[in-house]
Amino acid sequence: MPTNLTVRVAGEGGEGVISTGELLTTAVARTRRDVFTFRTYPAEIKGGPAMFQLRFADHPVLSVGTLLDVLVAFNEEAVELHAAELKKDGLLIYDSSVFDPEKKVPAGTALYGAPLTSIASDGVGLKKSKNMVALALLGQLFGIEIEGFKSLVEEKFGKKGDEVLQKNLRAIEEGYKWGQAHPIEKDLFVPISARKERKLIMSGNEAMSAGAIAAGCRYYAGYPITPASDILSFMEKNLPAYGGIAFQTEDEIAAISSCVGASFSGARAMTATSGPGLSLMAEVLGLASMTEIPVVIVDAQRSGPSTGMPTKTEQSDLAFAVNMGHGDAPRVVLAPSNVKDCFYGMVRAFYLAEKYQIPVVMLSDQSLSHRTQTFTRPNIENLVKPARTRASKNGSDYKRFLDTENGVSPVSFPGDEGLNHVTTGLEHDELGHPSWSPSNHQRMSAKRHRKLDFIAKEKGFTRRFGDEHATVGVICWGSTEGPTEEAINVANRNGLEVKALTVKMIHPLPDEEIRSFLVGLKHVIVPEINYTGQLCNILRAKYLFPFQPFTKCNGMPFDPNEIFDRIEEVIRRA
Ligand code: COA
Repeated sequence: MPTNLTVRVAGEGGEGVISTGELLTTAVARTRRDVFTFRTYPAEIKGGPAMFQLRFADHPVLSVGTLLDVLVAFNEEAVELHAAELKKDGLLIYDSSVFDPEKKVPAGTALYGAPLTSIASDGVGLKKSKNMVALALLGQLFGIEIEGFKSLVEEKFGKKGDEVLQKNLRAIEEGYKWGQAHPIEKDLFVPISARKERKLIMSGNEAMSAGAIAAGCRYYAGYPITPASDILSFMEKNLPAYGGIAFQTEDEIAAISSCVGASFSGARAMTATSGPGLSLMAEVLGLASMTEIPVVIVDAQRSGPSTGMPTKTEQSDLAFAVNMGHGDAPRVVLAPSNVKDCFYGMVRAFYLAEKYQIPVVMLSDQSLSHRTQTFTRPNIENLVKPARTRASKNGSDYKRFLDTENGVSPVSFPGDEGLNHVTTGLEHDELGHPSWSPSNHQRMSAKRHRKLDFIAKEKGFTRRFGDEHATVGVICWGSTEGPTEEAINVANRNGLEVKALTVKMIHPLPDEEIRSFLVGLKHVIVPEINYTGQLCNILRAKYLFPFQPFTKCNGMPFDPNEIFDRIEEVIRRA
């Protein structure tokens, strides 16, 4: 009996690959297994290869896996593209009414042809529902009762009208019937986890949105852009129920500008975008920095530069997020490493933004934003949500930009009696009045940057794991944590001494924790999904240690084996 399985559904954009994967994932998660997904498709609405991968287990899953146990191919091209990634004895489920893959698969592959299109067209009367027939076959393989799908199909297709819904429900039934008449001779039943608790299942984008609301975000403005658009949809749907406002602006400049305005008046505000949108936001991030107005900006990174590969993953906005804009403009850059961390990461992002009155950029990426994972339900009551330190009326001129020990000045909001002040993007003195005096710019720059020294000392922005006796280490960030942890676990189990550190705050760096991690290390590998090794370069410049970049930028997340092989090679050469 396998303890975990990796399943890929592949076909053409428009064939319902993603819906199949999403429904399967939710149904599997509801049977108390843990899930981890990855999806990739072309930027076009129809056509081009699309795929959805689900890995599930009776224990938490750290990565989307390596080789496939099951491949569902809706067309011949899907076999050509993906069959090589099947395990030696992997199972290929294909649409036998459309093609015969026999000559295109590696020897040893278990073939299971099912006439998906015929059942859907002739038996059901809706060709598009062939994906539901396939879903039913998968359901039987993984021990999911037919009822487990029916409610999900109702939720998914109910809005498309009763006829579409009924036909899809029928397709599920026909699929089950066909499967029962043609059983698959393979044990693909992953045990149900012994845990009693019901976990949450969310995508990274959903978790970031929910985390923001839990952190008290009540103003959202954004412009749709892949892969961040789901955040706008989530906020439009859910924020009003919490007394908040979600606003689709005409572009990204307007989005961040309106967030800065809302935050100026006291609201916790955020926007979300992807690379090209982040580029447009650079000027106003500088304004937020100069005026010390907190704002949280989610950047769901995708392959760049320019419009690049909008639906493919990459971690290549890091250097820009750290440096974007002109002048010395302090900001915080955070990077959540899994879906649970997307939730708590947003709470921490608002914590830092509000406490230090500073813009915070939250770097997700396509694979994480669109990844679905199960995680333990958060205890909302225990979240730390500081508000901005408010000024009190003191009878004299209110110094909105009072130069304090940690650089944070008590704030007033429009309407606070006796606390009127000027706020401007021009350099200003403690009162907020424009000032060009050389000593003032020096002093106020130091005040704004002083906050970073205190932020760097905040706890909880690193995670250390692996063998503490190691002389070889890995520093990872964002979505590379999962595959890194899996690689480290395998390495440690095989007697290879290696440890790892996830850096969740990229700017300012959690200096104490990084220095402590480096003690005793001779080699440190930095895996990143970008071409130039952006975190590696920052670490090298700061710590003068020969960090070793390990980069790829093919639009795909790391496979744990890739990181394991690199670790093994470095240890062998050491
Ligand atoms: N019965 C009825 N409708 C069905 C169905 C079924 N059995 N199975 C799927 N569908 C519908 C889906 O609900 C969806 O409809 P919607 O567009 O109204 O939501 C549609 O068919 C597509 O199916 P889905 O499973 O979601 O996707 P897919 O695997 O066919 O792939 C995409 C299509 C996702 C690749 C494409 O729609 C897309 O979004 N491309 C990316 C666009 C983008 O982000 N570009 C970047 C711009 S910068």
